[in-house]
Amino acid sequence: MKVAIACDHTALPMKEEIKKELEELGIEYQDLGAYTEERVDYPDYAIKVCEQVANKSVDKGILICGTGIGMSIMANKVRGIRCALAHDTFSAKYTRLHNNSNVLAMGQRVIGHGLAREVVKVWLETEYEGGRHERRVVKITDYENNFSSK
Ligand code: RB5
Repeated sequence: MKVAIACDHTALPMKEEIKKELEELGIEYQDLGAYTEERVDYPDYAIKVCEQVANKSVDKGILICGTGIGMSIMANKVRGIRCALAHDTFSAKYTRLHNNSNVLAMGQRVIGHGLAREVVKVWLETEYEGGRHERRVVKITDYENNFSSK
């Protein structure tokens, strides 16, 4: 599995912690920035990661900003992205099982680094359940492809 990760200027320390978790899990990753605390705009970083996921250069994406909300809003505008904002392991598990989320968003100002690492681990290690959930995920994709304004 390959993961792309990015953050805005508020979330560099959490990105570094999550990179350590990825290394411990033996997961290859691409760090797409930000690399300094100079103020940046979270949509630019959400787009960088989500385009890598959407074009299948990587399998999954992880986005971190102050709250995770801005990143998740932007991520879900990218065709093919199902981004989950998750700050607990229950949500992380079920968004993989039921929604087949391919991007995870979190907020540096919302949870501690230890919990963030656990959320990432559970999210990456949980497989999509498919079955009855597939019809619902397909409805999301169908709407995105056929009805969403261009
Ligand atoms: C940046 O100040 C902040 O707005 C951003 O990190 C994020 O929390 C947005 O949702």
